[in-house]
Amino acid sequence: MAQLILCSFLRFISKRQKVNSKKYMTDSVKFWAVVPAAGVGKRMQADRPKQYLPLANKTVLEQTLMRLLDADVFSAVAVAISKEDPYWPELELSNHDKVITAADGKERADSVLSALKSLRDQASDSDWVLVHDAARPCLTSSDIHLLIETLKDDDVGGILALSSHDTLKNVEGLNITETIDRSVIWRALTPQMFRYGMLKQALEQAEGNPAVTDEASALEMQGLQPKIVEGRPDNIKITRPEDLALAQFYMEHQQ
Ligand code: CTP
Ligand code: MG
Repeated sequence: MAQLILCSFLRFISKRQKVNSKKYMTDSVKFWAVVPAAGVGKRMQADRPKQYLPLANKTVLEQTLMRLLDADVFSAVAVAISKEDPYWPELELSNHDKVITAADGKERADSVLSALKSLRDQASDSDWVLVHDAARPCLTSSDIHLLIETLKDDDVGGILALSSHDTLKNVEGLNITETIDRSVIWRALTPQMFRYGMLKQALEQAEGNPAVTDEASALEMQGLQPKIVEGRPDNIKITRPEDLALAQFYMEHQQ
């Protein structure tokens, strides 16, 4: 028994040392996570919002939050939740001391802004915020740390992204008008990492603009050029029913 406790303790210590050895952990700047989780999941066509569907013995949202908390880098995780959401209070994680519940917004960008505002009294303008979709439960610690390591000294920030393997076409009606140069096209994933002050201001100024479908687009509207960091292809967004089985498959093979 004593041996078992010692082993767990040693494992705990070595995990902490591994994470704390990262330089950014010793800097004064803090890291915050923001999770928009207030969507209805229309395309999923399920009996509840997709973030509450079961995945590997938990809900999608719990899996996502566990991935963020396990990265051991965030001062807190602010989660935007719909006012009519009966599922959230039932989750143990809603009472976690590092989880903050924020109000929802009409669109994803409004939910993100609401979650940012909930951090107002704790976050400094120069702190980093990583915004991550509730519907991406397969995010790995390695991708979180890769994003942070790559961008922590950047002036603007940036996002995880994936290149496109397929040939891409411009289409009008059902007619192909041209083949697009694939080398300049990247698919935007999350997390998206920006400074608290800059992101909040960019989202406030872009409020109501339907073209703001991610954080980077709000920064682009300010004339800035966020960076891309190549992420892992298993960081999928659960959007349609078939995605849930794929997420389950990735989770089983990630360990
Ligand atoms: N989201 C949010 N607030 C909104 C709309 C979306 O917090 N008003 C969140 C979703 O919960 C999701 C993320 O933004 O985690 C990405 O959005 P999306 O995948 O489009 O989710 P839904 O809007 O729920 O799905 P759908 O578009 O199919 O209705
Ligand atoms: Mg949506």
